[in-house]
Amino acid sequence: MSATYLLDLLYLIASLTFVVGLKMLSHPDTARRGNQVAAVGMGLAVMGTLLFHPSADRDLGDVRTFKLLLLYAALAIGGMIGWLAAYRVKMTSMPQMVSLFNGLGGGCAALLAVAELKLQYDGAGHDPISTGAMILVLFTMFFGSVSFTGSMLAYAKLEDMVKDSAITLPRHSVINMILLAGILGLIGYITWGAGENGMMWGLILFGIALVYGFMFVAPIGGADMPVVISVLNSFTGLTAAAAGIIYDNLVMLVGGILVGASGSILTILMCKAMNRSIMNVLVGSFGGGGAAGAGKAAGDQTIKEVSISDAAVLLNYSGSVVIVPGYGLAVAQAQKICKELDELLESNGVEVKYAIHPVAGRMPGHMNVLLAEADVPYPKLFDLEEANDIISKSDVVIVVGANDVVNPAAKDDPSSPIYGMPVLEVWEAKNVIVMKRSMKSGYAGIENELFFHARTKMLFGDAKDTLQKLVSEVKSL
Ligand code: TAP
Repeated sequence: MSATYLLDLLYLIASLTFVVGLKMLSHPDTARRGNQVAAVGMGLAVMGTLLFHPSADRDLGDVRTFKLLLLYAALAIGGMIGWLAAYRVKMTSMPQMVSLFNGLGGGCAALLAVAELKLQYDGAGHDPISTGAMILVLFTMFFGSVSFTGSMLAYAKLEDMVKDSAITLPRHSVINMILLAGILGLIGYITWGAGENGMMWGLILFGIALVYGFMFVAPIGGADMPVVISVLNSFTGLTAAAAGIIYDNLVMLVGGILVGASGSILTILMCKAMNRSIMNVLVGSFGGGGAAGAGKAAGDQTIKEVSISDAAVLLNYSGSVVIVPGYGLAVAQAQKICKELDELLESNGVEVKYAIHPVAGRMPGHMNVLLAEADVPYPKLFDLEEANDIISKSDVVIVVGANDVVNPAAKDDPSSPIYGMPVLEVWEAKNVIVMKRSMKSGYAGIENELFFHARTKMLFGDAKDTLQKLVSEVKSL
């Protein structure tokens, strides 16, 4: 079998692993294995390219060994950094890591486009590419650069390296429109009119696209960051797919299309779960500084607290309990002790279920992943539509570190920034216990009337400590 056939076969296998892996990612039971399957496929594609790609035999002159050494060193260092980062990252920092890696992918594609452009203009005997291919190269440069600087800024915001979550210049959207028009104009000029100066204009396009990526993400902040990361993710997918067409590389094309499509679907799903349009997310400022403190002020209303022992009695002698996990469960890493309480209550005859909001936590499926880590059986998890039905019939709802996703303002306060977002209507249960450390707001930065509701009792403290104490108390009953 010739090297080319072998390479095509490896690319086909790799493409299949991406599809199968992605399918497996859609269920918590198979997600980990799905990730591994796709990673093996990617490994095969990289190894196949290094060993069998026709350019591996290209005459690189005297510097061949040096260039190959550089290539392998980059692979080894990059692989090591990736492995270490993935190994060490905390579950709560996943969006940052996705953003960082996604940005690097976009930056890579943009540099490939710059290199391709250079080949076109350095007069080294490279076949001129068609007009269509030139447009693809320039769009790859554009989307890749936007994805790079946009993702780096998103990373800096999520890591709190940038003080203001939403940075807006005077007439920000007008500046953005001008930049975008300039970029599109340059793509047209380089393709049809720049002649020998194409490389110089290409570098100017590269620079403007980098600035545009920064400007695109700058005004977005707070709770909208996961959405913008998903948008940038789909941009990177598109650039990889375009690069796949330019280089006639099947695996790059399939991988890019899958990333682009899944990023777009995820973006739509997140917007739907927050009842917002994508335009509203990209040009609005929900969740940024502007939203903080918005919504009805709680005024001088009072809250009721519950002691650990009273909470334990209430839970142990009720018929049905619904647990609503949120971002605080992830921060406290309380999933395992939560499962312990669940098992303890079930062994005492209490029926325990979980209500999962689609945007609870900081990334899609965050709560599902955490609970799967603790081996909570999947059939016990109910999503928004079914959950509200179960909640209204339950004796007690325990809210563990959730806030925005259980905020009644989303239903009954038209002035609230989250008005219209579907929420878990926990106040419909007979009793509500809210576990959190203080009266601080959630990610959207708004008050929550639930804490002052007649059926709500607050149980203050770190979720893990509180659940631990509850378990000990229930055991002693
Ligand atoms: P949040 O509204 O962010 O509230 C989390 C609460 O957890 C906080 O009020 C905090 O209160 C509490 N907490 C933090 N650490 C804790 C600890 N160690 N122990 C106990 N409690 C702790 O979380 P949510 O209800 O899960 O909502 C998610 C937010 O992210 C929503 O606004 C959503 O729109 C947004 N968002 C999410 C996504 C995805 S995909 N998940 C995408 C876009 C936007 P204390 O500080 O008082 O403890």
